[in-house]
Amino acid sequence: MPIVGPLEAYGIGKTPLLRCASFAPTGRLFTKFEMYNRGGSIKDRTAYYVFRAAMESPSAIATRQLVESTSGNLGASLAVFAREFGFRLRCVVDPTIARAKIERLRGAGAEVEFVTSPDGDHRSERTRRAAELAATGEFHWTRQLANPANVRAHEETTGVEIYEQTGGSAAIVVVAVGSGGTICGVGRALKRRNRDVRIIGVEPAGSTIFGGTPGPYLTAGAGLRTPSHLLRQHGYVIDSFARVEDAMAIREALDFARREGVAVGITSGMTLAIARRISAARPDEVVVAIAADGADNYCDMMIDLGVELAEPTIVDASSWWAGQRARPEQSQPE
Ligand SMILES: Cc1ncc(COP(=O)(O)O)c(C=O)c1O
Repeated sequence: MPIVGPLEAYGIGKTPLLRCASFAPTGRLFTKFEMYNRGGSIKDRTAYYVFRAAMESPSAIATRQLVESTSGNLGASLAVFAREFGFRLRCVVDPTIARAKIERLRGAGAEVEFVTSPDGDHRSERTRRAAELAATGEFHWTRQLANPANVRAHEETTGVEIYEQTGGSAAIVVVAVGSGGTICGVGRALKRRNRDVRIIGVEPAGSTIFGGTPGPYLTAGAGLRTPSHLLRQHGYVIDSFARVEDAMAIREALDFARREGVAVGITSGMTLAIARRISAARPDEVVVAIAADGADNYCDMMIDLGVELAEPTIVDASSWWAGQRARPEQSQPE
C-alpha cells in the first residue's frame, strides 16, 4: 500500500491567521482562513487524517471503496485522496448541498448519491444511508461523526497553529459546529496549553446540536439534529454556544468581504458574527474566528435579504454538557 505523505506535501495546513481591524475596529479579532488549504476548506485536514486512518483499515484495503455522508467539503477533499490512491468514493449528499460542490465532487471522480428525508432531517438520513452501504460489506465508511481521526486532525494541526500564530494569546476561539471534529480538536489542543481559553461553538438557527427547536436552514456544513458521537465524547471543551440565522451569517460574510477584501463562506459568516460581538465587548482579548471555507461555492446564495434580524445570544454550555453526560449512547449509527 502506498504511503500517504506528510500534510504539507498536499498543501494542507499552516493557513494564515490575520488581524481583521476593519471588520472589528475596536477589538483584537483574528481570522483563521481555511480556504487556503488545497481543496479550499478546513475539511482538507479531516480528509487527510481520516483517509490515512482508512489506509490502515482492513475493510478499506479489502473493498477499495469508501463511503461518506458529506455536505460537500469533506467529500471533495476525500475524492482527491481516493483518486490518487486508487479508491472509489461514494458521497451521500442531500438537497441543501451547494450546486458548485456537486460539480466538484463529480469532477474529482466521486459518485454522488442524493437522499432526502420527509421530515427535513436530511443529515440523519445521509448517515443512515452511509451505514446501510457500509453494512453491505462493499464499502469502508470513513464515519466523520464518530471517527477519532477527525478530532486528531484539528488537535494536531488547527489548534496547534492557532496557539503558535497568536503566541499563546488566543483567549476566545469561535468555531462552527457540524461533526464537531474542529471544535473538539481545537479545544483539546488549546486547553492543554492554556486552561483559561474559552471555546465558543456556533450552529445555524434550526440546528439542534445544543438543543432548541428544529427548523430548516440553508447553511451547509455546520448543524445537525443531535450532537455527534465526537461531541458527546469531547464536548466538555465547549464553554458557550450560539445560534445564527442564515440571513445574518450571509450578511456578516458580505460585510466581511467588503471590509477585509476576503470572500468567506456562510459558516464563516456565522463565526464572524459571534466573534465580532464578543470582540466589541472585550476589546483587550484576542478573539479568533475560524473561517472554514470561502464564498465561491455559495455565490448564488450570498444575497443580503435586507430583513431585520434578532441579535444572537451566547449561552453558557455547562448545562448542555451535563445533559450530554446524562444521556445514554444513541443506538443510531454514526
Ligand atoms: C464550511 C464548513 N463549516 C463548518 C463545518 C463544521 O466543521 P466540523 O465538521 O469539524 O464540525 C464544515 C464541515 O463540513 C464545513 O464544511
